[in-house]
Amino acid sequence: MAVLPYKDKQDSKKDQVAEMFNNISGKYDLLNHVLSMGIDITWRRKAIKYLKDDQPKLILDIATGTGDFAIEALTLNPDKIIGVDISEGMLAEGRKKIKKKGLEDKIELQLGDSEGLLFEDNMFDAVIVSFGVRNFENLEKGLSDMYRVLKPGGKVVILEFSKPTKAPMKQAYAFYSKAILPQIGKLVSKDNSAYTYLPESVQAFPDGMDFLRIMNNVGFTSNLCKPLTFGISSIYVGTK
Ligand SMILES: C[S@@+](CC[C@H](N)C(=O)[O-])C[C@H]1O[C@@H](n2cnc3c(N)ncnc32)[C@H](O)[C@@H]1O
Repeated sequence: MAVLPYKDKQDSKKDQVAEMFNNISGKYDLLNHVLSMGIDITWRRKAIKYLKDDQPKLILDIATGTGDFAIEALTLNPDKIIGVDISEGMLAEGRKKIKKKGLEDKIELQLGDSEGLLFEDNMFDAVIVSFGVRNFENLEKGLSDMYRVLKPGGKVVILEFSKPTKAPMKQAYAFYSKAILPQIGKLVSKDNSAYTYLPESVQAFPDGMDFLRIMNNVGFTSNLCKPLTFGISSIYVGTK
């Protein structure tokens, strides 16, 4: 059964996810860095390095949110990065940040659903997504559309939370994500559910070999998984 942000509501997962990110958008960046103790910045950097030999010129950042993964991808020196997201609130925060950094000529943020991308087939040199795929309503549909818009030979780089498997990190992380993270998240974001949904959705989401199998089913080849920080998150790379 799908893990939903607001269990008492009847809306689809997609509508609930958009509503949740609209609610927390103003505090999203702050909470990201506080709750991960800044490690999320290192994770995005490591993930983008998987594209450094490819030198992609046109990049699509799926579930771009406030644009941090797109901004990190600028280290690859592309001509253009397009970021899409279903949350207008997250995009508004991202646009403010991009304007402040003077990056409007390089990064364009658009409202869009990754399970029905409005781009042509074989358009992008690389497709990237950080902490987005877990929120899709239909994971295979989202991954298939990413595959469709990627050029043959192009790579997809996916960064997503995973589950540490070894003691004592497994127990320590379970305690942190169930007892501490939701409390801090609730206090700062004022959304009672968003940071309870986070560990619940991580728990229910396929990781490691299970995720690689889904990438393979969708058509990606040469797939690899690199666990980060005791497996709290993982980088997945695949080729079209
Ligand atoms: C945890 S945030 C990640 C944002 C950013 N990539 C980062 O690393 O900080 C997840 C984002 O996925 C977006 N999202 C969820 N489902 C989506 C979909 N079907 N299409 C596009 N964006 C989606 C949400 O609106 C939210 O902004």
